[in-house]
Amino acid sequence: MLVKGPGSPALCDRLEKRLDGNVVDVEHKIFPDGERYIRLKGDVKGQDCVLVNTTYPTEHILDLFFLQDAILEAGASSLSVVVPYFAYARQDQLFKGGESISSRALAKRIEFQAGSFFSVDLHSKRILDYFTIPATNLSAMALLADHAELYGPDLLLSPDEGGVERIKQAASEVDVPWDYLVKKRIDGNTVKIEPKSMDVEGKTVVILDDIISTGGTMYKAAQQLLEHGAEEVHIGCTHGIFVGDAYERLESVCDSIFCTDTVETKGNEVTIAPLILEALYGLE
Ligand code: R5P
Repeated sequence: MLVKGPGSPALCDRLEKRLDGNVVDVEHKIFPDGERYIRLKGDVKGQDCVLVNTTYPTEHILDLFFLQDAILEAGASSLSVVVPYFAYARQDQLFKGGESISSRALAKRIEFQAGSFFSVDLHSKRILDYFTIPATNLSAMALLADHAELYGPDLLLSPDEGGVERIKQAASEVDVPWDYLVKKRIDGNTVKIEPKSMDVEGKTVVILDDIISTGGTMYKAAQQLLEHGAEEVHIGCTHGIFVGDAYERLESVCDSIFCTDTVETKGNEVTIAPLILEALYGLE
């Protein structure tokens, strides 16, 4: 039984099309004081439930917790929680004394009312270790690589060293060469990409990353490719946050922008529905 979380409506509709009516809708409203209300509109008693709800923006974290509580309260026999975009994943450790390990705090609350956990392209695999229930990180890189193939890429590029494993996986999927840039983060809004000599003149390059947030990383990477004479630059990611005018800024330095529906936003050209259908329902 799929429970359609309000953080992922379009993704849940895509899943529903394959699930022969085994779906529960959710009533969702916000009170005048901003408090959130959640109610299951169907019976889940005795059912094995799959709850799909992303955790961005932050309000959807509360929806997730309330739904977990509602599903177990209503007598479900098991609950698998699918969080397509796991927010706060970049705070996966202490960087300064006195901080919270925010992703661990979320993991602990999720597992309090769940039997298993799934997410997609977690920014840090360390987060899996914060769960004591079975926790799985699905990868959208093959889906992104398939989409990238439409542009006839000569090169797939990661904008930083942290994405090397991901870009290798994507490149092997479509048999295209890969490379990476070296990034230094100055602060939350500013990044510097180290100059690198690359033979991209006249070529089509697709840059892939896990997250586009402020867009600073992708902007600097695309600029460097254009300076080196790239003919076409396309940028793609799993989680498209696009803070403020990030999407529009990026449009000025690339030929196209695409992302998956882990966060429902502009550029949702790729759906992660097949990953969930295969991992949770055994459907191809
Ligand atoms: C960082 O390590 C991630 O992989 C992304 O590169 C980063 O989160 C992108 O952030 P922004 O779009 O703000 O540069």
